[in-house]
Amino acid sequence: MAKGAASFSLFSCLFALFLISSVSAVTDDPQDKQVYVVYMGSLPSRVEYTPMSHHTSILQEVTGESSIGGRLVRSYKRSFNGFAARLTEAERERVAEMEGVVSVFPNKNYKIQTTRSWDFMGLKEGKNTKRNLAVESDTIVGVIDTGIWPESESFSDKGFGPPPKKWKGVCSGGKNFTCNNKLIGARDYTGGGVRDSIGHGTHTASIATGNAVADISFFGIGNGTVRGAVPASRIAAYNVCLRKGCTSEAILSAFDDAIADGVDLITLSIDGYTFPFEQEPTAIGAFHAMAKGILTVNSADNSGPTPGLISSVAPWIFSVGASTTNRGFVNKVVLGNGKTLVGKSVNAFDLKGKKYPLVYGKSAALPTCDTESAKQCLERCLDESLVKGNILVCDNYDGLKIAHSMGAVASIFVNPEDYAAVHVLPFSALSQDDFASLVSYINSTKSPEAAVLTTETIFNQTAPKVVSFSARGPNAIASDILKPDITAPGVEILSAYPPVASLIPPYKKENDTRHVNYTVLAGTSIACPHVAGAAAYVKTFHPEWSPSMIKSAIMTTAWLMNATGTGFASTEFSYGAGHVDPVAAVNPGLVYESTKSDHIAFLCGMNLNATALKLISGEAITCTEKILQRNLNYPSMSAKITGNNSSFTITFIRTVTNVGAPNSTYKSKVLAGHESKLSVKVSPSVLSMKSVNEKQSFTVTVSGSNLNPKLPSSANLIWFDGTHKVRSPIVVYTDGYK
Ligand SMILES: *[C@@H]1O[C@H](CO)[C@@H](O)[C@H](O)[C@H]1NC(C)=O
Ligand SMILES: *[C@@H]1O[C@H](CO)[C@@H](O)[C@H](O)[C@H]1NC(C)=O
Ligand SMILES: *[C@@H]1O[C@H](CO)[C@@H](O)[C@H](O)[C@H]1NC(C)=O
Ligand SMILES: *[C@@H]1O[C@H](CO)[C@@H](O)[C@H](O)[C@H]1NC(C)=O
Ligand SMILES: *[C@@H]1O[C@H](CO)[C@@H](O)[C@H](O)[C@H]1NC(C)=O
Ligand SMILES: *[C@@H]1O[C@H](CO)[C@@H](O)[C@H](O)[C@H]1NC(C)=O
Ligand SMILES: *[C@@H]1O[C@H](CO)[C@@H](O)[C@H](O)[C@H]1NC(C)=O
Ligand SMILES: *[C@@H]1O[C@H](CO)[C@@H](O)[C@H](O)[C@H]1NC(C)=O
Ligand SMILES: *[C@@H]1O[C@H](CO)[C@@H](O)[C@H](O)[C@H]1NC(C)=O
Ligand SMILES: *[C@@H]1O[C@H](CO)[C@@H](O)[C@H](O)[C@H]1NC(C)=O
Ligand SMILES: *[C@@H]1O[C@H](CO)[C@@H](O)[C@H](O)[C@H]1NC(C)=O
Repeated sequence: MAKGAASFSLFSCLFALFLISSVSAVTDDPQDKQVYVVYMGSLPSRVEYTPMSHHTSILQEVTGESSIGGRLVRSYKRSFNGFAARLTEAERERVAEMEGVVSVFPNKNYKIQTTRSWDFMGLKEGKNTKRNLAVESDTIVGVIDTGIWPESESFSDKGFGPPPKKWKGVCSGGKNFTCNNKLIGARDYTGGGVRDSIGHGTHTASIATGNAVADISFFGIGNGTVRGAVPASRIAAYNVCLRKGCTSEAILSAFDDAIADGVDLITLSIDGYTFPFEQEPTAIGAFHAMAKGILTVNSADNSGPTPGLISSVAPWIFSVGASTTNRGFVNKVVLGNGKTLVGKSVNAFDLKGKKYPLVYGKSAALPTCDTESAKQCLERCLDESLVKGNILVCDNYDGLKIAHSMGAVASIFVNPEDYAAVHVLPFSALSQDDFASLVSYINSTKSPEAAVLTTETIFNQTAPKVVSFSARGPNAIASDILKPDITAPGVEILSAYPPVASLIPPYKKENDTRHVNYTVLAGTSIACPHVAGAAAYVKTFHPEWSPSMIKSAIMTTAWLMNATGTGFASTEFSYGAGHVDPVAAVNPGLVYESTKSDHIAFLCGMNLNATALKLISGEAITCTEKILQRNLNYPSMSAKITGNNSSFTITFIRTVTNVGAPNSTYKSKVLAGHESKLSVKVSPSVLSMKSVNEKQSFTVTVSGSNLNPKLPSSANLIWFDGTHKVRSPIVVYTDGYK
């Protein structure tokens, strides 16, 4: 089982399979040169400063070459200062010493990680949803991803006027790439153009902002209207990924441009490393975006359910986990004895109910193969002649690949995961129990056979539930900032796709010739644009709100999730504040705001040195104020306690801003969470707000003892004025979970 689960986790990270996830730097140069990002902080405000010539002269100096052709990969010159260049180790050391250079870091490869989901969270179609169309049409969402398929109906500009006046971007998507009044901008950092042949970027863009397109399905599965949260908004696509990955330098460039182009919000379904903020292009780019009033929404990563591997950890980023919706895709397996088993898959291949012989891997084993390996259908283990034309049954998901290459009609295997996916041949993924009864049927029957049916749609009441691949906290970099922040639908999502892209990324197109304009994908990558869409929706009602206000509104109105089920994996460390509710977020009552200088005080409190501070903020910073991590004015409250059995008392300081009605009185209420009992005192316990935008501060004192070392202990603070419930999770934990 453990083995099966391990390999199946690749299945969940659909895109991780073919995109390099190695932590090592990209060495793409034969002469021992590699691409480094030379980061120089904020742009000097002097008018006469020309970044390009400065970059060129630095390069000439360190390389000793007057012609630097091929060395300069890119200049960052719009929102911050720096460049990417091919350097030898010695040159890297020299450039690091030069004046104006803040830091030099190796270029790394990052992983990229309907639409009934909007109905599920209450954002209904058409007149049932309040919209501020004039502002929505002026809202521009920057999508940093694998590009986009411009001809998709989801991005057609029927009914759109010209781009908003504030737009300063361009359409340079490469050959044969045309923008329109919906898809207003395109930039490429890969040399391959912005036309998306991978599929990831098209899918995510349409979840956040795609037009409503009716009668869409995956070969009849999931039929309905595919749509984004803000169909009237505009899209700017920034392509930073090739098949082998998405590089740091490209991601930084995309932030540099998107900020200057005038996007309102950035969605980025790319992640991969849990690094200190100053080494993370997403954290750096997002800090600059935040400073300019632009919220960055980022996927948590697909590294769950192991604790502590979440890579989206900076407090100025909105980090999103993935969960289920109440629509499920299942498929039935009818055995020769009439018994029906229900598995999970997105199977559109119609075998017309015909039964085929069942072959368990171990009965097709080559003599050279042991039984265990044969049961798992490992490579070079099975006799092709026994598999061909039959249904191959395997303990391991990887058996699917073998089944396909050996000409099996279908495949059935154990499903350690909690969602359905598309594949190149009919298959069904059964629960452990159902798989055991299948095996026992095979074992006890002379000529076992079964029919694998096409997928049916079911209503699943047990939703939302965070899926196992979704990355979990605690936060390895800032232990007192709860991450992820929120969860959103991230499995079985039907959305736009390029007809040229492979439906199953590791497979080449020739292995699956189906061409679709919409497909079903899973990942925190898919959850991220749901929250980006929700944030854009909120912003259409409050265009003046800062990134932290929008994030607070979404977090404090999130659905309460229950820590039921599989222990650590289903606590606040999987869902943060809960499940996104876009409509409630428009009217949160109170918000927790944090400005750029609050974040700097937070970083100073973490005792980052001047170099690291300059790297993140782009500025030379003297720490005049330091705050504890837990006193950043964050919408959730979290603290790590050292020592399991000691009693503790910790205090959180918070300030709320009234964005509801004048003359509101909020009373505090504490809702128990799970595990060890926390005693929570709020002072003052009542807040009377006279006017809109009034701010009031309070403290939350949490005490307890004998914490469960294995699980976080939690409670919720709720401010309630009779209308608004402003809820913040409170999470206390020890390091005993490891
Ligand atoms: C442009 O791309 C579209 C979509 O791939 C294709 O159908 C069309 O033939 C291309 N046109 C040219 C001139 O290459
Ligand atoms: C999808 O649903 C619509 C309306 O319910 C129906 O007209 C259409 O035929 C369906 N399409 C498919 C492919 O099932
Ligand atoms: C299969 O049947 C044999 C005997 O008929 C039994 O020993 C064995 O345990 C069974 N295996 C399974 C997996 O049911
Ligand atoms: C319903 O959802 C729960 C939670 O994700 C899952 O465990 C269960 O298998 C689903 N039920 C069906 C019939 O798919
Ligand atoms: C894809 O097809 C090629 C040739 O048609 C075959 O050699 C290869 O094994 C197939 N790949 C997979 C993953 O099935
Ligand atoms: C996909 O969209 C194109 C238009 O971009 C259309 O010509 C084609 O028929 C669509 N394919 C399917 C399978 O609907
Ligand atoms: C959580 O549990 C409460 C109380 O049992 C229940 O009312 C609520 O619906 C549950 N929420 C979810 C998301 O399961
Ligand atoms: C600053 O901190 C970074 C890592 O956080 C470290 O690599 C660097 O050496 C430090 N610089 C100084 C001058 O202490
Ligand atoms: C807390 O308990 C866990 C598990 O029992 C243990 O591994 C850890 O060392 C303990 N920590 C302290 C500080 O005692
Ligand atoms: C708020 O209350 C004050 C004092 O009771 C009153 O003067 C003022 O008109 C009220 N404002 C609103 C908008 O109701
Ligand atoms: C620590 O607390 C745990 C759980 O409350 C308890 O089982 C354990 O015996 C305590 N250990 C000590 C040394 O007090």
